[in-house]
Amino acid sequence: MSVTIRPRRDEDLPALAAALVRVHAQDGYPVEGVADPEGWLRHDRELQSWTAVEDGLPIGQVALIRAVPEDDAARAWREHSHGDIDRLAIPARLFVDPGHRGTGAGQLLMEAVFGFARARGLAIAFDVMLKDQAAIRLYERLGAVRIADLTHHYGDGLNEPAAVYVAAS
Ligand SMILES: CC(C)(COP(=O)(O)OP(=O)(O)OC[C@H]1O[C@@H](n2cnc3c(N)ncnc32)[C@H](O)[C@@H]1OP(=O)(O)O)[C@@H](O)C(=O)NCCC(=O)NCCS
Repeated sequence: MSVTIRPRRDEDLPALAAALVRVHAQDGYPVEGVADPEGWLRHDRELQSWTAVEDGLPIGQVALIRAVPEDDAARAWREHSHGDIDRLAIPARLFVDPGHRGTGAGQLLMEAVFGFARARGLAIAFDVMLKDQAAIRLYERLGAVRIADLTHHYGDGLNEPAAVYVAAS
């Protein structure tokens, strides 16, 4: 059965939350943990989110959020391009259920993000932890370019090496 991408619906959230718990157990993503998976899926700056569906089942998702100056990705993008942060959006919360990977769902989700942003004239920048190598391969396969290295600070004094990418224009 092939994967389709559509705007996320509220009814997708329980299945996506269960998938996210599996993703965290396997990949340590997100590094902050998944104490409230459905809350984590609902970003308060969301412009749009998408669900990957296979055989009627939500198997992954991504969100596109409005950038603010405090975002690591926004800071790096502004230093790099001197652009207006009101014209920047940040893909976030990308994951695919471990049992459904390697068939293009991640790529289709990111292509939905890039297409949405391009249609609205929005630039795209985002950060990724260096440990998330499958994600980095995906982004580079789609032509994204690394513009900065940084350290992601989280929790109680924890650090994770990360990088910021921009989508090819
Ligand atoms: C990153 C992630 C979303 C990718 O999801 P995915 O659905 O497996 O992505 P794709 O299927 O598009 O690509 C994965 C691999 O399958 C390959 N692939 C895709 N379609 C294929 C097909 N039809 N046949 C064979 N291989 C295929 C891709 O080339 C890619 O290969 P690679 O791992 O050697 O680079 C997933 O690994 C994930 O959820 N990781 C944990 C969370 C995470 O890191 N999120 C990003 C944080 S910034």
